[in-house]
Amino acid sequence: MIRSLQEHIDEFHKQGYTLMKGALQAQEAESLKEGVLKAMEGPGDGYRDGLRTRMFEKGEQFQRLIMQPGVVDFAEAVLGPKCHMFAMNAHRTARNGGIDNWHVDEELFFPLPEGVEFDPRMQMPTFLITCIYYLVDVTETMGPTQVIPGSHRSGQEPDPNQNPPIYKGQEPVTILAKQGDCLLFTGQLWHRGARNESDEVRIVQQVMYGKRWISQRFYPFVNYQLPQEIVERWKDHPRMSRLLGMHQRGPYG
Ligand SMILES: [Fe+2]
Repeated sequence: MIRSLQEHIDEFHKQGYTLMKGALQAQEAESLKEGVLKAMEGPGDGYRDGLRTRMFEKGEQFQRLIMQPGVVDFAEAVLGPKCHMFAMNAHRTARNGGIDNWHVDEELFFPLPEGVEFDPRMQMPTFLITCIYYLVDVTETMGPTQVIPGSHRSGQEPDPNQNPPIYKGQEPVTILAKQGDCLLFTGQLWHRGARNESDEVRIVQQVMYGKRWISQRFYPFVNYQLPQEIVERWKDHPRMSRLLGMHQRGPYG
């Protein structure tokens, strides 16, 4: 059953994540998978093996993914009409691979003192969203994404001495995804990609969206230049050019 955008938004705010089933057609997912595998064979970009960043540089299909219907609508609804894509990484995870420690991404945005809770009348503000497109089916043994529902409201990092960490009695939920599904979550949610214990390779493409004031993370950052062919292709397309970071002038410049 296809769920409405509002249902996904409500679930995201409450649980810290939501899964859009069938966000990609099988053909789209297959073609992106081929593109990711090809990028993995090419030269690395200074990150670890099995990770490629700035995937929008790898062809038009990756650029179009930034505007994937449903997903981009969700991003704009949650982050506002000026949001942009700030990172676009692909992962290939073979046996024994995976970032399997529980974590929040980057840092805690709203740290709370021990024993203090977020008022239930308050909605946790969201500044950025990670969208994970599964380009192959991900089964229990392939290192599925795991999350602790509601933990984005904890104001705490997951306790490294507790494995798995439990939040308000809530245990981990394992996301068993089919090819083409998309998981949308806030990096403030306690999460991990479990270790891949199978011989199947897990292949995912991520698109991260942030509010305009979240800086884009295109290494080497200051001196990064968006390739001219991408600028030319999208400069007359207001939504896409904004998502790529071509903004109007604003209060700070
Ligand atoms: Fe993470």
